[in-house]
Amino acid sequence: MSDTGSAFIEFPEGFVWGSATSSFQIEGSPTLDGKSPSNWDVFTRKEGVIKDASNGDVACDHVRLYKDDVALMSKLGFDAYRFSIAWTRVVPDGVGPTNHAGLDFYDRLIDELLNAGIRPFPTLYHWDLPNVLEEKGGWTNRETAYAFADYTEAVLERLGDRVDTWTTLNEPYVVANLGYVTGEMAPGHTSRAEGLSASHHLMLGHGLAGERIRSIAPDSRLAIVLNFTPSEPASDAPGDHAATQVIHDTDNRWYIDPLHGRGYPAETAEHYGWDYNEVHDGDMELISQPIDLLGINYYFRQIISTDGAVPNGPDVIQNTMGWEVHPPSLGRLLRWIHREYAPPAMMITENGCPMPDEIRADSGQIIDDDRIAYVRDHLHQVHGAIEDGVPMEGYLVWSMLDNFEWAWGYGPTFGIVEVDYDTLERRPKKSAEWYSEAIAANGFALPETPVAYRGPIGPSLMDS
Ligand code: FCB
Repeated sequence: MSDTGSAFIEFPEGFVWGSATSSFQIEGSPTLDGKSPSNWDVFTRKEGVIKDASNGDVACDHVRLYKDDVALMSKLGFDAYRFSIAWTRVVPDGVGPTNHAGLDFYDRLIDELLNAGIRPFPTLYHWDLPNVLEEKGGWTNRETAYAFADYTEAVLERLGDRVDTWTTLNEPYVVANLGYVTGEMAPGHTSRAEGLSASHHLMLGHGLAGERIRSIAPDSRLAIVLNFTPSEPASDAPGDHAATQVIHDTDNRWYIDPLHGRGYPAETAEHYGWDYNEVHDGDMELISQPIDLLGINYYFRQIISTDGAVPNGPDVIQNTMGWEVHPPSLGRLLRWIHREYAPPAMMITENGCPMPDEIRADSGQIIDDDRIAYVRDHLHQVHGAIEDGVPMEGYLVWSMLDNFEWAWGYGPTFGIVEVDYDTLERRPKKSAEWYSEAIAANGFALPETPVAYRGPIGPSLMDS
């Protein structure tokens, strides 16, 4: 207990604190040093697909300002920094020769991080596919998985000596489902069959790249980052339950099941009429090779009826994108993953929220108390899971900087650091100060009056 009487929670020694970003969302410099256009460079040019009609041409200008960004991370006390590598900088043609000038940027970034005592935590694919490959079918083309493995090799040969954990993919669910089924993300297709095909080829890419990582950097660890959206039926009606099961399988089990040798969820594959045509002999063995760390991205829970996800009413605590703020679902998710799949180590690789940051006129300080509450209460859940034996290695807040939020453009502000898009000035918000203090203390005080989150709506499919 602290002086004020509120409980202080402390994390285990060595708990890793940091933040996450991705290449397309922050880098800018889309043609520098031989970089080719990605599917996102092309997608953002289409009319009506990005809410504010923006693109990634400048973004946070991180390619030019990375030294300042690393200095800021160091000032805040980060142990680790998760970023992604743009395939288009490294192998601009998608396949073929390595562009060493493009790799130089990541070489410099990694050295800058290591010199500042910050662990680089790179992801090889965070959605920005070389557009030349998208034109050949993108992830619906099996060849893309092999190209991904070759690109991985090019990166590892140059950077494999300085990175302890390699992450293959970020959120294959989003690539397959929002890219090829709903069309909200690049490449903007709307075909269930394409989505299923893409999902398998993404996982195959993970498996093939995993083999290369093991052989080129045998002392490093292999990781993948999956997103999870705990789902509860809106009512006891059998239709709502059936709909929730399909969504749970699609959103939460489709990738983690095959990773752990269970194959794709069979009933849901049948529901979608998938004939497994894309699955060749040996694929599932490659996909289920052991990983060392599972990265978990969690943002919100969803309530499901036969019509799909039920929008939140105004009484629900939610962020500016309408996602429910529900930390208890994170604790439930972590226990479920541990119980069902038991990956050797787990880490929160993304968690955060866009909130209406209030700038106080007198001091100019950016007051984002609701972001502080979000991060604090999710970390509290992580702490509870650790106490129950879940091997949580760390927490990386999304995001270090306000950035390009995909189809939403620059509207949602996820950063603990504000970016002024006119001047590119970075200004730490109050949450950055809070986070920095929590890192220094390896813990934080809980509020005397906890936030009252909604209880369960229906049975969670993560309880059994
Ligand atoms: C995740 C993405 C990340 C960011 C957050 C808000 O799905 O991995 O790039 O956009 O959502």
